[in-house]
Amino acid sequence: ATEETLVLVKPDGVARGLTGAILARIEAKGYSLVDIRLVEPDRETLERHYAEHEGKPFYEPLLEFMMSGPSVAIRLAGNRVIEGFRSLAGTTDPTTAAPGTIRGDLGRDWGLKVQQNLVHGSDSPESAARELDIWF
Ligand code: CMP
Repeated sequence: ATEETLVLVKPDGVARGLTGAILARIEAKGYSLVDIRLVEPDRETLERHYAEHEGKPFYEPLLEFMMSGPSVAIRLAGNRVIEGFRSLAGTTDPTTAAPGTIRGDLGRDWGLKVQQNLVHGSDSPESAARELDIWF
């Protein structure tokens, strides 16, 4: 059934000028942009978004990275868009993400404490509803 997901082009993607390339892949796949905005999230917003990672070793570097510059938040719609976008994005670690995916083609390890992997996509309908409410 038609569903929605939250996609973020994270600060590394925006800073590297890859927003257009990433949007082109999403549009070419056939999903619909319902809403899109440039966001500079404050710490409270990121604490809500990343609540499940609190306490992990990469949590603080992750929040700092996500506050290092603007992200592009996208409300994306389509049948099975949650799993479809995650497939387009590739696995979390960009070094080993499959070629053909956003992370596999455009990302790499920069030797930092947090993986900079260009995009975020909600992982379930529950996460999508929660995260869309945070960013829009
Ligand atoms: P994302 O899927 O948006 O949500 C959690 C983020 O934390 C993830 O992308 C990566 O940017 C980062 N991350 C996840 N696992 C690790 C890890 N083991 N080491 C460093 N960063 C990580």
